Amino acid sequence: MALSQDQIATLASEYSEKDPEDIIQYALQEFDNIAISFSGAEDVLLIEMATKIAKKLGKQVSVFTLDTGRLHPETYRFIERIRQHYDIQIECISPDKEKLERLVTEKGLFSFYETDHHECCGIRKIEPLTRKLANLDAWITGQRKDQSPDTRNQVPVIEEDSSFSSQDKSLLKFNPLANWTSSQVWQYIRMFDVPYNELHDKGFVSIGCEPCTRPVGPNQHEREGRWWWEEATAKECGLHQGNLIASDED
Ligand code: ADX
Ligand code: SF4
Repeated sequence: MALSQDQIATLASEYSEKDPEDIIQYALQEFDNIAISFSGAEDVLLIEMATKIAKKLGKQVSVFTLDTGRLHPETYRFIERIRQHYDIQIECISPDKEKLERLVTEKGLFSFYETDHHECCGIRKIEPLTRKLANLDAWITGQRKDQSPDTRNQVPVIEEDSSFSSQDKSLLKFNPLANWTSSQVWQYIRMFDVPYNELHDKGFVSIGCEPCTRPVGPNQHEREGRWWWEEATAKECGLHQGNLIASDED
């Protein structure tokens, strides 16, 4: 289903106050070629909600994860647990072998501490995501405004993904949790007994790759545990590049 810019804007405003389930229901009803992008953290609740809704609609849920090769062992175990718990396939997408081998051979396994995370994220996350999104009409992410006051405070529930749309194809991006707070997410996880990553019990709030994620202490924002050696305004790895463009326009 191809929507014009105006139709997307109208839809985004119509759904801006709606519950995540309503947004997911609309997304699954309208798009067959759509997938959830699962990071192995608290965005698991998208899978919980979508599997329930898909069952009612008589549809399958597609889920993919970008296997950077640098996730925590706990995250790998969690992804497998989710695969079994929901009896779903999780497509694990790996980086391009040649690009990755060149990077680590020439610059080592921890080049991101010396420069910044962009080159490594580009190879381990963005190139594989670009490959995946080229074959989708829409994707569903777990982004929320409260995850990053510096870069995510304008995330809409529905948007055209300007970073990954092409001349031939417009890609729609659903962010059903955009307006939920972390405490709403965790209330839902507890209420419905949703399985969660054991790292959350070890002080981790926002979870990414192992070398680039650390637990946060009291009164620290969750984003401070990601790429902590970099400026807060740079803390987008490129999966959600549009956020940086939106925050620059402020
Ligand atoms: S990131 O851009 O800083 O890494 P974050 O960890 O906040 O993103 O997660 C926000 C959303 O991006 C997740 O809910 C998920 O939809 C998507 N995402 C992040 N990391 C991955 C990953 N490794 N695989 C698939 N999706 C991911
Ligand atoms: Fe590389 Fe760190 Fe980005 Fe993971 S988060 S892809 S290890 S720079």
